[in-house]
Amino acid sequence: MATIKAAILGFGTVGQGIYHILNEKREDLRKKLGVELEVAKILVRDTSKERVPGTRHLLTDSIDDCLSVKGLQVVFEAIVGEEPAYTYLKKAVMNKCHVITANKVMFAKYGLELQELAKQNGVFVGYEATVAGGVPVIKTMKNILLVNDVTRIQGILNGTSNYILTKMRAEGWSFDEALKEAQALGYAEADPYMDISGQDAFKKLMVLSALAFGEQPNWADVKVVGIDGITPEQVKEAKEKGLRYRHVAEVEKLPDGTIFAQVGPMLVSKEHPLYPIDDVFNAVTMETNYIGTLTLIGPGAGMYPTASVMVEDYAEIIGKRAGFVVTI
Ligand code: NAP
Ligand code: HSE
Repeated sequence: MATIKAAILGFGTVGQGIYHILNEKREDLRKKLGVELEVAKILVRDTSKERVPGTRHLLTDSIDDCLSVKGLQVVFEAIVGEEPAYTYLKKAVMNKCHVITANKVMFAKYGLELQELAKQNGVFVGYEATVAGGVPVIKTMKNILLVNDVTRIQGILNGTSNYILTKMRAEGWSFDEALKEAQALGYAEADPYMDISGQDAFKKLMVLSALAFGEQPNWADVKVVGIDGITPEQVKEAKEKGLRYRHVAEVEKLPDGTIFAQVGPMLVSKEHPLYPIDDVFNAVTMETNYIGTLTLIGPGAGMYPTASVMVEDYAEIIGKRAGFVVTI
């Protein structure tokens, strides 16, 4: 049986999740895909940090060390920020590796270019994990876009913000207590300001805009507001009125062809579809011309939901390359 060699870039919450799932599902994936997968290298910044037992010999802080693995075919990327992630993935693609990323900051900016480069090099880019954690929004949208036009997307795209708003309302936690817990649970970004300022949801919205409309609005024209300005008093007052704060991102193709987007908190009543979406859950509603309105709901962050959709991307790519439909 052939062996596929893979590298994992980043070994924090998501990177470790990928490693665990690949181990736990090794036998199953081997049977379904007809190939063995071997994690040959793992890129980190600090190779001395104690991580998953039995992985120390795989760690390196050199991208060249990772990409020079003989027969490397797959690169999972779960590091942070635009750079050096984009440079690393460009190199990987030019080395004819499939790349699978969770990095929405990098992908919002460079996703279209990276996919074009991948096409030129005959490899695939998996990016399901860049939006809404374990909710298969990208796959679903790709599947309906062959026939349907998506006209508008609205949703809760940041699990940390939703978790904080939920806990402040339901448990009376302070903002800081709720944020600390979201960090402990592995939901928050390395820099949690990305979450609470609305930037994380904005980047995810831009990934969806590129997929749905083939383009993004001018970033400078998009109003982005986070939940960091919401006070405990406001949350209490909303609760007394039977309302809930939700952090909502929306993007729409207007009749004149321009793309309008905005991100910010919204007060919703119990008739609103986003009212019951609690904790770390995300919800994405797509309005389409033929299907009508379609909503996906599920865990928007966390080790296993996120890593599992990256392994699903791997299975889909390898299944495609082998020329058969993956029935998992
Ligand atoms: P994390 O726990 O902070 O882990 C980041 C990892 O990347 C660490 O192992 C770090 O190495 C490594 N790293 C960062 N910059 C690097 C660089 N320049 N060179 C080499 N290694 C570098 O972050 P995470 O939560 O796993 O998130 C990783 C990515 O997934 C982010 O882009 C995030 O937006 C995305 N994501 C996260 C979630 C989630 O629920 N956490 C969900 C969806 C998407 P050291 O450990 O040595 O510092
Ligand atoms: N920090 C992000 C969130 C992780 O809370 O939604 C998932 O992308």
